[in-house]
Amino acid sequence: MSDRWYSKAVVYCLDIDTFADSDGDGCGDIRGLIGRLDYLSRLGINCLWLNPIHPSPGKDDGYDVSDFYNVDPRFGTLGDFAELLHQAANRGIKVIIDLVVNHTSDQHHWFQSARSSPDSPFRDWFVWSETEPADRKQGMVFPGEQAETWTYDRTAKLWYYHRFYKFQPDLNINNPEVRAEIKKICAFWLQLGVSGFRMDAVPFIIEQTEPGNPASPMDFGFLSELRQHVQWRKGDAVLLAEANVEPEKLVAFFGDEGGSSNRIHMLFDFMMNGRLMLALARQDTEPIIDALRDTPQLPEGGQWATFLRNHDEIDLSRLTAEQRKDVLEQFGPDENMQLYGRGIRRRLAPMLGNDRRRLELAYALQFSLRGTPVLRYGEELGMGEDLSLDGRYAIRTPMQWNNRPNAGFSSAEPKQLVRPVISGGEFGYETLNATLQRHDPKSLLSWFERMIRTLREAPEIGGGSCTHVDVPAPRGILVHRADADTGTMLFVHNLGTEEGEVDLSSLAAEADFPNDVLADQEYPEPGEFDKIRVAGYGYRWIRMRRTA
Ligand code: NOJ
Repeated sequence: MSDRWYSKAVVYCLDIDTFADSDGDGCGDIRGLIGRLDYLSRLGINCLWLNPIHPSPGKDDGYDVSDFYNVDPRFGTLGDFAELLHQAANRGIKVIIDLVVNHTSDQHHWFQSARSSPDSPFRDWFVWSETEPADRKQGMVFPGEQAETWTYDRTAKLWYYHRFYKFQPDLNINNPEVRAEIKKICAFWLQLGVSGFRMDAVPFIIEQTEPGNPASPMDFGFLSELRQHVQWRKGDAVLLAEANVEPEKLVAFFGDEGGSSNRIHMLFDFMMNGRLMLALARQDTEPIIDALRDTPQLPEGGQWATFLRNHDEIDLSRLTAEQRKDVLEQFGPDENMQLYGRGIRRRLAPMLGNDRRRLELAYALQFSLRGTPVLRYGEELGMGEDLSLDGRYAIRTPMQWNNRPNAGFSSAEPKQLVRPVISGGEFGYETLNATLQRHDPKSLLSWFERMIRTLREAPEIGGGSCTHVDVPAPRGILVHRADADTGTMLFVHNLGTEEGEVDLSSLAAEADFPNDVLADQEYPEPGEFDKIRVAGYGYRWIRMRRTA
């Protein structure tokens, strides 16, 4: 990987604590992950995104950090982490880590000191108000679990701001010392060898919170500053940000008016995520076509990161009430499957009725859309969820390696496990696990390996343009293309259950020896490029032209 490696990456996201436990204490660890790097290498991914690795009281699964300069002792040591970076690099895998600097844990010594005295050097590192802010009960991210965004602290005798849970006090980005510290944290991990950061909650990091003002201004300048700093420390380091904001606000996160991306390199495409869910639920391509059309033009070097599932709920808040209702009806009909009044806490396989054809279709579609695909651990096996667990933990169960006790995740007593493994039924580890699938060339895992290998031969997807192709097609069949100086790929995805036909004759003049490179089944070669067929839930990735 060289220039702009992130546009050719396939990112795999995992929690160390649920991936592989090497020492039998019931919690996954770094050495366990090192032992599984060959599995990831064979799968074909080339970038690992690790959910928070730092020491933490663990009240928000690590997103409440109590020390930014260390790894959680449950996971191992800094030495183990350096070894992980080395071993991953040996296999051509880059590692990025979660950078959670909108807030700290309330147990972080900075906050403990800040609240203890007005003279604390850390007092101004957090966001305080002497009086009760009028917007105290606005802007909660976790409705139902979070009652307010300002909480009174009896020790400080002040109100402190927390965009998320009350044990996650927000850092004060207006304070130059805080800005310098965030840069120092980045520099530390870059020095150790990470290739970048998945930045948590970016719109809130740059929020210049004013008590009583629920729409406080944002300081985009900090993103430019941070980018400069990161890039000077490691030229090819990448920032991948979570910024789930309205589409018209997105471009400013990539860069200023100058035309090239000088802030964040990659943003998760939340807009596309919601539209994909809607399109799958309605078996109608319109939401995807809208998303492709409405996508703002990105500054040079800016890139989307596509995903179907991540470690959080599927956020449907950007859909209309009617659209949301349709998605929930199809994919999360029980109240217990829903979360925060806006989302679904399920994995994709059970959402799609564990229909193998439909799962392939969904992932073939995601991986063929513009941007860098991000895959959540276990999705490559079609893992399920455990709805008896609280909130988002339903989709954070241990990786299912084999059919030995605890799914081969750990040798501890089951009750010692960080979270129970999914057992029994169609998603249980007894029948759904990596080892069984590895031995089966027809398994979903084998399909993912093939699909990712095919992606490698199609750099147009990550690095080229992506457009909807308006040709005669039934409403469930999407035709889109990816163009780059290496050639053109054409994609046909059928979201519906009925076999259908698309008329590609308007593209025939451009086609040069077109052929299927990935498809749900053997189809007759596209030949003269006139009418071609695609099965219900079928898909065809066609190389239309290769430039010499
Ligand atoms: C977004 C993360 O994805 C989520 O898991 C976390 O709870 C919040 N940010 C707070 O850090």
